[in-house]
Parts: sequence; C-alpha cells; structure tokens
Amino acid sequence: MRILGIESSCDETGVAVVEASASGVPRLLGAALHSQVAMHRDYGGVVPELASRDHIRRVLPLTEAALAQAGLSLHALDAVAYTRGPGLAGALLVGAGVAHAMALALGVPVVGVHHLEGHLLSPFLSADPPAFPFVALLVSGGHTQLMRVDGVGRYTLLGETIDDAAGEAFDKSAKVLGLGYPGGPALSRLAQQGDPAAFALPRPLLHSGDLDFSFAGLKTAVLTQARKLGPALEARKADLAAATEAAIVDVLVHKALAALRATGLTRLVVAGGVGANRRLRERLAQAAQRDGWRVHYPEVALCTDNGAMIALAAAMRWQVGAGSAADAPGAFDVLPRWPLEAVALDGARATASAAGR
Ligand code: KG4
Ligand code: ZN
Repeated sequence: MRILGIESSCDETGVAVVEASASGVPRLLGAALHSQVAMHRDYGGVVPELASRDHIRRVLPLTEAALAQAGLSLHALDAVAYTRGPGLAGALLVGAGVAHAMALALGVPVVGVHHLEGHLLSPFLSADPPAFPFVALLVSGGHTQLMRVDGVGRYTLLGETIDDAAGEAFDKSAKVLGLGYPGGPALSRLAQQGDPAAFALPRPLLHSGDLDFSFAGLKTAVLTQARKLGPALEARKADLAAATEAAIVDVLVHKALAALRATGLTRLVVAGGVGANRRLRERLAQAAQRDGWRVHYPEVALCTDNGAMIALAAAMRWQVGAGSAADAPGAFDVLPRWPLEAVALDGARATASAAGR
C-alpha cells in the first residue's frame, strides 16, 4: 500500500509518500516540504489568505518532488491522504481539493486525516519508534494536550490548555521581546545566553492537581516585566528570554511527569513544533534517566508540520481497518475545528493495533 500525504493546514506545504504492509511500521519513501515562514515574517504572523494562495502554488511541484524522491509515478499510488483539519479553512481546502481530484483521476481512495493524529504518530517514523501504550505530550502553535494513547485511534484526553497553547506562549513572548516570527526558535536561541533565574515568572496551574495548562497569564507577566525594564530591556533580553523559556518548560515537564504517574505508563512521546525545544528535551531526558522511563521524539524534520505524518497516520489507520468517513462522490469538506476524540475508534476494532504491538 503506497499512500501520498498532503499537509496544508497552516504555513507549511508538505507532501510525502509512505509504503505500508498489513503490519509493521510504515516506511517513508519520499518527502518534500515548503515553509512559508519567510513570506509571513513581514506581517508578524500567518496571513490566512496568503497561506492558501501559496499552498496552491506549491502543492503540485512538491508532489512531483516527493514522487521523484520515492522513484514512483503517480500511478503507483494506492491512496491519497490529506489534512482534513484542524487548521485554517482556506489552507485546508487546497490540500483537500488537490487530494480529491488526484484520487478521482487515479481511481484510488482518498483519506481525510486529523492533523494532531499525524503529530501524535510521527515518532513511528523515527529510528527509535515507541510502542503502545504511551503518554503523548502534543505541543504545537495551536495545541497543548496530554493524551493517553493505547493504539491507533485509541486516544484519551488527560489534560489540555484552557487558553493559549505552549507554542503561542513562546511566539507571543518573543513578540514582546521584538524577536519576530516565528518566535519559538528565536526565543530559544536567545535564551541560551541568558540566566533562567534572572526573573521570577509565574508557572500557571503548576500545582492545580490536574493535567490542564494555562499560558495566557505568563505572556502578560513577560509583557509587564518588559515594560518595567523600559530602556534596560535591551541589555536584559537574553535573561528575560531564558526566564520565559524556563517557565514554559517547567510547566510542560511537571505535567508530563504527572501524566506518567497518573497512568502508570513508562513511555512519553513528545510531538509538535515545541518538541524541538532544546531545554524541554534536556529536562525530559534528565527526568527519564532519573525515574527510569523512555521519551520518544519524531525526527527533527518531522517535529513541525509535514506531509509524512499525514501519509503515516493514513497508513496506520488503514492497518487497523479504520478508514475515514466517506464523502459523497465528488464532494468534500474540511474541518477547521475538529477534536481529536472525534477520530477515536472503539476499543475492539483497534486492538489489533498497527505496528504489530
Ligand atoms: O507543530 P507546529 O509546526 O505547527 C502547529 O501545528 O502549530 O508548531 C509550531 C510552533 C510555533 O509556536 C513555534 O514557535 C514553536 O512550535 N517552536 C518552538 C521551537 N521550534 C518551534 N518553540 C520553542 N522552541 C523551539 N525550538
Ligand atoms: Zn502542527
């Protein structure tokens, strides 16, 4: 089974091909990606209309590139998958339209994939894939969730943010510090030269006793601190960046450990753009070594949005016999708001989980 995956939910156009047999971890055959970061930088954030138009320009050349890398022609494909949601409606429609047209022309099935399921399963393409069950910490620009994952389609929400996402906290704080867009990587780079203990920033909900997150107050605290510093901010920027990063990472690590304790599981998967954060990785590695559990990440290139995770999620769902809800022939829609629980399968059907575990 060879599946093409198309990702166009936000500001990355990604196309990839994976090959899957009835069991075992699917293999990535080819992948191509275009990031729109440079285009949106002037605006300080993603401009949805520009994003959609750029996806249109990129998606077919990227499809050709991914197929060329895989050494395959379009006719070798057995299915076409695309991100059906959540994300920007216009951007999603580009991938959905192209996927449906391609599948119709080739006479193969088309599969709408949940973007977060893609992130969640992306570590299966790494050199050190996890085994089910595990706790997943999903940390992206739009989402911060802890899930219990018992198999493909077997997801239980343990906790989530009640306001901003972790990536949003990075991005908004970076904006306060004048670091441009996207702020996460820039703030993290600057933080390496600063002192994380230089400022006492809040760790919202750290001791709330549940697995929920809140980051909106942190951004306000960073803004207040920056205003208080006034002209002195310039010289203290690295310190404030380091303190901000430390506050966000402290909360993420604390809650991830609490989720492992609460479930009794010994594997943690970290997925989504913030999973690229170096301090987060260091802190989790220390805790894992101390407490005797394992942490898994996707390959660095698959941490942020990409087509491979979409093709992979489609392949792993196919392995457990779970297709996506069929649209009427020739008709399709996208789901800009779409809870992950909506793609959960009933326990019995998913027990023969993918990857043979
Ligand atoms: O998963 P992703 O590529 O897109 C979404 O689906 O949202 O995540 C993007 C988010 C942005 O907020 C970005 O600032 C953040 O991930 N990010 C980072 C780092 N790299 C990306 N945040 C902190 N440290 C990083 N190294
Ligand atoms: Zn994402």
